[in-house]
Amino acid sequence: KNIKIIEVKSEIGAGTRGASLGVDAIKIAALDFMSNFFVHFPTEAIETENKLLFEPIESPYAKRIKGTVNMYERISKSVCETVKANWFPVLLSGDHSTAGATIAGLKMAHPKSKLGVIWIDAHADLHTPYTTPSGNMHGMPLATAIAEDNLDCKVHDLDETTTGMWNALKNIGKIAPKVLPEDIVFISLRDYEKEEDYLIKQYGMKVITTNEVRRKGPENISRSVFRYLSDCDYIYVSFDVDSLDASISKGTGTPVSNGLREREAEDLIAKFMQHRKICCFEITEVNPTLDRENLMAEIAFNILQRSVNVLMMN
Ligand code: ARG
Ligand code: MN
Ligand code: MN
Ligand code: MN
Repeated sequence: KNIKIIEVKSEIGAGTRGASLGVDAIKIAALDFMSNFFVHFPTEAIETENKLLFEPIESPYAKRIKGTVNMYERISKSVCETVKANWFPVLLSGDHSTAGATIAGLKMAHPKSKLGVIWIDAHADLHTPYTTPSGNMHGMPLATAIAEDNLDCKVHDLDETTTGMWNALKNIGKIAPKVLPEDIVFISLRDYEKEEDYLIKQYGMKVITTNEVRRKGPENISRSVFRYLSDCDYIYVSFDVDSLDASISKGTGTPVSNGLREREAEDLIAKFMQHRKICCFEITEVNPTLDRENLMAEIAFNILQRSVNVLMMN
């Protein structure tokens, strides 16, 4: 596979400041390891909307959603063109709101195909502006991908502008939904709210726990994931570094205990990358301002390097 790196120094979707520095932290980690990894691949940098952080918040239940719509347009376009030009996109992003746009871009490139998603994350990121506990857009990308409002669990009323922009996010690329809930697999999910649990139960979504990964090992897990997604044509892997245990993921905005060990995540992702249906990989939510000695970025870089090595052999 021919790798292209798409870097998105996004910050507006997170609740804690510093995620936009994650991409550079990963590059610094490469330099500290004396690796020339980043020399080898063409890189495109997506323009951000981070200037909005200095302006007042207009939609409390969907913070800076205007900027998120712009980001979705740029990222989806770039991912779509990358795929169409026969490159394999590897995204390095700041906050996880970008992943809804990545999924949109993949679907735009293959509108007739069935897309599957492997979501490695402590969180489900299935909130909507109607249910969010925080208003942070990085808690919502998968809801945009499945075009979900979750009005059964509605907690907030939205103004017209917010409603319009939320609908725009779900309809990016004029295709909705981009994926079906049954074609999403959560790995190491362990911190979610009851509104998200409602959707997971309603749609019978597939969840693989940290313990299952530990017990069964990467080979068995990978085999059962691809069997579960066997009717999908293409599969995207989204790796939120807070899927790693809080003891080694201090450098992320929302660390959670009972997560994966570095080696478990690395071996599992490397195994996934061997599969011919894998069409895109994203690493997200590294926040070096919360870290000590850039540990989170170093772990992310190791996983990036191993994954890309596998991808290049396939
Ligand atoms: N569920 C919480 C929220 O909506 C946390 C989401 C964390 N998401 C992430 N991509 N780190 O605010
Ligand atoms: Mn996430
Ligand atoms: Mn997360
Ligand atoms: Mn299916």
